[in-house]
Amino acid sequence: MDIKSSLLSSLVVLLFLFFVQSTNATTKIVEVKTICNQTLNPSFCSKILNSKPGGADGADLTTLANYTIGVVRSNITNTIRLIKFLIRNSTDSNAKDHYELCLTHFGYEEGALGEVDYAEKMLKAKDYRGVNVAASGVIAFVEGCVSGDSPSDPVFPDHSLLPVFGKYVEQVAEIICVISNYLSGDYN
Ligand SMILES: *[C@@H]1O[C@H](CO)[C@@H](O)[C@H](O)[C@H]1NC(C)=O
Ligand SMILES: *[C@@H]1O[C@H](CO)[C@@H](O)[C@H](O)[C@H]1NC(C)=O
Ligand SMILES: *[C@@H]1O[C@H](CO)[C@@H](O)[C@H](O)[C@H]1NC(C)=O
Ligand SMILES: *[C@@H]1O[C@H](CO)[C@@H](O)[C@H](O)[C@H]1NC(C)=O
Repeated sequence: MDIKSSLLSSLVVLLFLFFVQSTNATTKIVEVKTICNQTLNPSFCSKILNSKPGGADGADLTTLANYTIGVVRSNITNTIRLIKFLIRNSTDSNAKDHYELCLTHFGYEEGALGEVDYAEKMLKAKDYRGVNVAASGVIAFVEGCVSGDSPSDPVFPDHSLLPVFGKYVEQVAEIICVISNYLSGDYN
């Protein structure tokens, strides 16, 4: 082999290594069942991720996180609609107070919807710990609505669909937490 072609082949090898390294840094693929195994309700998690158009297996983590952020946003929006109805429909002032508190906890200013926007921003900025903090914030706000902000708060006996919707939102947010942990490299 002459000098020229051996230089050329080293260059090709270098470029190849560079390519492998840079694609590893930007796309990370983890199987759905592996992700969902880290959640409290793996079958719920698989159902959510597999509902992604085009399928979830083989999708990179950023795409999955972005998809799941979209799902939780739509679920929070539905929940806010339910809460507004419950406020209009309640005759009891305790119930009204409870639902008003929940409206704040799910809302944009100081609540779950604001956290979702923040999660999306952090994902774009590749700040995966920020994504995790935001998704954990969603869970904390929902808990604050359903169970009260502190353990000493009495739990409002809510027989509406709100606790069910809240649970759903929490479970979707938990999936975002797990994906963001993979993105930050916490599981490797
Ligand atoms: C799920 O997690 C458990 C431990 O948490 C592990 O033993 C098991 O192999 C995992 N299953 C899959 C499919 O990753
Ligand atoms: C949550 O959002 C997804 C996607 O829009 C939808 O398919 C699902 O029915 C919603 N669930 C609830 C409880 O709002
Ligand atoms: C609306 O309020 C009435 C009276 O308090 C109650 O009986 C009914 O269950 C409420 N409807 C819903 C859908 O919560
Ligand atoms: C996430 O999806 C939205 C559309 O739903 C898109 O505008 C945004 O750029 C996506 N962000 C990332 C980080 O992929």
